[in-house]
Amino acid sequence: MDFNNIILEKEEKIAVVTINRPKALNALNSETLTELDSVIDEIDKDNEILAVVLTGAGKSFVAGADISEMKDMNVVEGRKFGILGNKVFRKLENLEKPVIAALNGFTLGGGCEIAMSCDIRIASTKAKFGQPEVQLGITPGFGGTQRLARLIGPGAAKELIYTGKIINAEEAYRLGLVNRVIEPETLLDEAKQLANTIAANAPIAVKLAKSAINRGIQTDIDTGVSIESEVFGACFSTEDQKEGMNTFLNDKKYLTGNFKNK
Ligand code: CAA
Repeated sequence: MDFNNIILEKEEKIAVVTINRPKALNALNSETLTELDSVIDEIDKDNEILAVVLTGAGKSFVAGADISEMKDMNVVEGRKFGILGNKVFRKLENLEKPVIAALNGFTLGGGCEIAMSCDIRIASTKAKFGQPEVQLGITPGFGGTQRLARLIGPGAAKELIYTGKIINAEEAYRLGLVNRVIEPETLLDEAKQLANTIAANAPIAVKLAKSAINRGIQTDIDTGVSIESEVFGACFSTEDQKEGMNTFLNDKKYLTGNFKNK
C-alpha cells in the first residue's frame, strides 16, 4: 500500500517505518495518524516481519500533533482527535512485535508520545524532547499524561509537562526517557541492528515477553507474576521451545537466527 506521509520498508525480518512529512517537521495530522494505523495493521499481518524500527525523515522525528489542524477545533473535534491518536498509539504499543524508536531530531508533544508507545527508544545526540502542550493552551493528548509518568515517574513527568521545557538527549537519557544516545550518523544502523538482534530470537517468546511486561506493569506484583506464569507455560506449546532447548543440550549453542516462529 502507498502512503502520503509514511514510508514502509521491509528489510528481511524487520520493517522500517519512516514518518515522512518533513515540511511540517513530521507533525501528526489526521491523515498521518490514519496511515500509521494502516501501517501497523500491515506489519501485524506480515508473518515475515519480526521487529520494527520507527523513525522520522529529515531533522525531526515528530514535532507533535499538527497545530494547524487543531487550531480551530471545538470540544467535540478536539476530543475526537485525541481519541484517534490514543487509539493508534495503543495499537502500536500492543503490536505483537517489538518496536524500536530511532529518535533522530525533534521529539515533541505527540512525537514524545508516540516514542513512549514504542518498546525501546534510542536517540541521536541531536534529538530534543518535551511536552510543550501547555504553552499552546492544551494538555498532552496522545497519552503523554499517562505514559510519561509511568516511564520516568510522576515528579519528573509533572515538571516536564507543567513547564513545557525542552530537554536534550543527555537529559532524556538521565531521566530514563531513552535507553541510549548515539551519534546521528549511526542511529538508524544501530536501531536496525537492535531490531535484527531481537528478530533472531524466538519470536513467540519475544511476543509473549512483551505482552507480559506491558500487562504486568499496569497491575500489582501478584497479578503480574501470574501473567508471567501463564506466558511462560504457553512457551512450552511451541516447536521453538523444543528445538531451542534440544539444540542447546545437544550442540551447546543457542538456536538464535534459526527459530521457526512455530
Ligand atoms: N504542527 C504543525 N506544523 C508544525 C509543527 C506542528 N507541531 N511543528 C513544526 N511545524 C511546521 C512549522 O509551522 C513550519 O511550517 P512553515 O515552514 O510552513 O512555517 C515548519 O514545520 C518548520 O518549522 P519551524 O520553522 O518552526 O522550524 P524550527 O527549526 O525553527 O523549529 C521546532 C522547530 C522547535 C520544533 C518548532 O517548529 C516548534 O516549536 N514546533 C511546535 C512544537 C510543539 O509545540 N509541539 C506540540 C504540538 S501539540 C501536541 O502534540 C498535542 C498532543 O499531545 C496531541
